[in-house]
Amino acid sequence: MDAGAATGHNFGLREEIKSYWSARAATFDQSPGHEIFSEEERQAWHRLIIRHLGQGEGRRALDLACGTGVVSHLMDDLGYDVTGLDWAEPMLERARAKAKARGRTIAFRIADAENTMEPDGSYDVVVTRHLVWTLVDPKQAFAEWLRVLKPGGTLLIVDGDFVNAGIAERFLKVVVRWIEGMRLAKPGPMHAPEGMAELHGRILSQVHFSDGARAEQVAALMEDAGFANITVDTNMKAIHRAQSKHLGYLKGLSRGLQHRYAIVARKPLQAGTMTAQRR
Ligand SMILES: C[S@@+](CC[C@H](N)C(=O)[O-])C[C@H]1O[C@@H](n2cnc3c(N)ncnc32)[C@H](O)[C@@H]1O
Repeated sequence: MDAGAATGHNFGLREEIKSYWSARAATFDQSPGHEIFSEEERQAWHRLIIRHLGQGEGRRALDLACGTGVVSHLMDDLGYDVTGLDWAEPMLERARAKAKARGRTIAFRIADAENTMEPDGSYDVVVTRHLVWTLVDPKQAFAEWLRVLKPGGTLLIVDGDFVNAGIAERFLKVVVRWIEGMRLAKPGPMHAPEGMAELHGRILSQVHFSDGARAEQVAALMEDAGFANITVDTNMKAIHRAQSKHLGYLKGLSRGLQHRYAIVARKPLQAGTMTAQRR
């Protein structure tokens, strides 16, 4: 990608994020944790979605920052009427190609998740995976997501803190680097193309959650935005177990140690009628 363009005056942080993900689109689905590589993992995701949102039964779902459409497809599998939005056209092209290949009718459109242009109260559920950590203005985003939900509708966020690694995770990373450096094991699947790490770091240092998106902080902002019945679910074991079979043993172990979570919340039926419950 043209990293030089990123230094131009008119090239703001949002443009930088958009062009980063546009450049990542070509290899995005090669990473375990992005695309799904086993039926075991697909079923684990289905169980997580059913646990928090139930079966679709034709209800309308909005997948924000849908990327290559992995979550949109999971929702479609469960009977939701899905619209996926993303602001990186190369991601959307892949999402549309997958839907065509699988014979699915999912609408994929270009849009900013902080300003979707979708009508008020038009969705039963809003889902988003791995977007919150990279939001420039989560307050604006959460207000927008509340606006597009129907009263009583549900928001499901799947995300994580990808900044703060605990001692065990840091130790495992050193061991993996050493083992791969000594060529004692084949390097695992590449997460991001080499050469993009610097841009990733520059973006991460400027986003709202530059110190890591901790579930409690995300939940507090959701409550401020007007969401209620907020629950944090950190039981992602089944998903991580399935992913670890494609990541290699140590990287799989490391993933299980990260602060990854789902947060589910409701739009009150009427303003002020439901009490927020953060657990
Ligand atoms: C880590 S990927 C996640 C993709 C997908 N949700 C998944 O879990 O496979 C992040 C995605 O967020 C998109 N994105 C980031 N900020 C966005 C915004 N404000 N509006 C729309 N899309 C955004 C990027 O283009 C990229 O496709």
